Amino acid sequence: MKFDPKPKTLKLLAASLLLTYSVSSIAALTSVQAFQQSLYTVTRNRCISCHDTNQRPFHASADVQVAHDQVLTNSLVDFTTPTSSKITLKVKGGHHCWSASCTNDSNEIASQIASWKTLMTDTTVSNPTGIVAPPTTPTTTTKMKAFRIYNRLAGVPPVPAILSEIDTLVKAGKVKEAALRSMDDSNFYNLTLKNWIKPWTNIDKTNRIILNDYVATAIGIIRDNIPFDQILYGDHLYIAGVGTPGAIPVYDKKTNLHYQKLEESRVSLKDYLVRVSQSKTTGIKDTAGVLTTRAAGLAFFSAGTNRRATRFTFMNYLCRDFEALHDINVPDYHVRRDIERNPGGDSRTYRNKCVGCHAGQDALGGAFAYFDFVNGEVVYTEGVVAAKINKNVGFADGWITKDNSWVNTWAEGQNANLGWPSQTTGNGVRELGVMLSRSRAFSECMSTKVYELVCLRTPSSTTDKTEMRRLADIFQMDENYNMKNLIAETAASCVEE
Ligand code: HEC
Ligand code: HEC
Repeated sequence: MKFDPKPKTLKLLAASLLLTYSVSSIAALTSVQAFQQSLYTVTRNRCISCHDTNQRPFHASADVQVAHDQVLTNSLVDFTTPTSSKITLKVKGGHHCWSASCTNDSNEIASQIASWKTLMTDTTVSNPTGIVAPPTTPTTTTKMKAFRIYNRLAGVPPVPAILSEIDTLVKAGKVKEAALRSMDDSNFYNLTLKNWIKPWTNIDKTNRIILNDYVATAIGIIRDNIPFDQILYGDHLYIAGVGTPGAIPVYDKKTNLHYQKLEESRVSLKDYLVRVSQSKTTGIKDTAGVLTTRAAGLAFFSAGTNRRATRFTFMNYLCRDFEALHDINVPDYHVRRDIERNPGGDSRTYRNKCVGCHAGQDALGGAFAYFDFVNGEVVYTEGVVAAKINKNVGFADGWITKDNSWVNTWAEGQNANLGWPSQTTGNGVRELGVMLSRSRAFSECMSTKVYELVCLRTPSSTTDKTEMRRLADIFQMDENYNMKNLIAETAASCVEE
């Protein structure tokens, strides 16, 4: 069969233009996300039989992050001239091409590399030009390190001028400073932090959602070096400041439009977010950091019985779902009356299963008693327990919620090892947030999450875990929960790998 490369090339060009066009209206992509939608679609399909786990480089790895890093660290792509990329030339030279024309196949690869670049740069605020691929020669080990630090933190490869600036710091042994410098890039906020935090704000744990008040507030807290434990109790809300470019409607607690337009305007969140008092802005008295934002209300207070709020707070901030906390040996005094004591006609099920979660979570969940999410907004009525809380009755003698008091029955027994502070009872969400954020589990959870973000893997070996705990110590004590510092320390710790 004879191939005319032209029509194919044109088709690819059209496809890549279409791709470029369609992304202009959605959130910016990180390098990994952009890779996933471009070059990875080829390597994962065409090269998987060898380059998954057997043959280096693992550019077809099932783990997209691994595949992405392999491509960059092995200098397989040349973003300036995609047709000169090592991976393009390899296939052009006859290495496992899949159609009758190795040239066509290599053009397809080159076009995917161009899309990768477009997907990253077209949607970001700064540094759209001059992106460099990582250096690999032995004389530039520090440059390699500098590249890696920057790329991981900013979510995009550096431009040459910044690479040499970071390289100078790395050469001087100032790896932590190099990390902090990388975090000055607005992409650290617009890409890395935004995509990191978005999954915490919805039950599907996805980052393919529109910017919201929860994410903006977490980003602002990190930018302003506010101790990060306040994420769970501080009276903070971040909104677009006066003079933010783009037609951004004023903040409205009934809709997300303010944040949607802010994201669509693609301005630097680092430069335009401003802090306001959440309670003064929303009129909610018992504000507690992100826990009482509109996005949290939408995800965790709507319908149901507010128990989701407790569960997702534990998952996101203590890194534990309820299965892990399940303890049937704590008193079931606070188990609410919507929980049957004889489910399926067998009281043993209640004792051995339901109690495991509900004895602990229902006792804590009282904190959210005055909250609901109705007609698009978080509703808080001081002193009035939301009707839904006591509505269903499966066991008339069960606990009736009368106020917003709570008690941590998991502070004793098997879950004592979460390292609770001394105050384990209270009223309302703010006090609950204080207790949770002062636990050892919070610091270790944040340290683990940062480790995954920066080191691209879960701390698993004994050495990793010891290191994670050391970083948690720094976060908790010496540095007063400074998140930027934790990220920089972690980057300095694992960039040597
Ligand atoms: C049947 C196994 C097999 C398949 C399929 C395969 N490769 Fe390879 N690849 C190898 C082997 C073996 C090497 C190492 C020897 C060499 O360089 O040719 C290699 C090396 C490479 C290298 C060189 C890396 C370097 O740093 O020099 C690149 C690039 C590459 N492959 C790309 C691809 C791409 C792209 C595909 C899919 C279109 C692919 N390979 C499919 C076996 C395979
Ligand atoms: C692994 C922990 C866990 C166990 C075990 C468990 N639950 Fe739950 N339960 C939850 C969580 C979390 C929610 C909140 C679910 C939501 O709103 O998404 C919940 C909610 C409920 C609700 C309220 C539903 C609503 O509309 O909010 C009832 C009723 C209930 N559980 C009954 C039971 C019974 C009966 C058992 C024992 C057979 C049981 N649960 C065992 C975690 C658990």
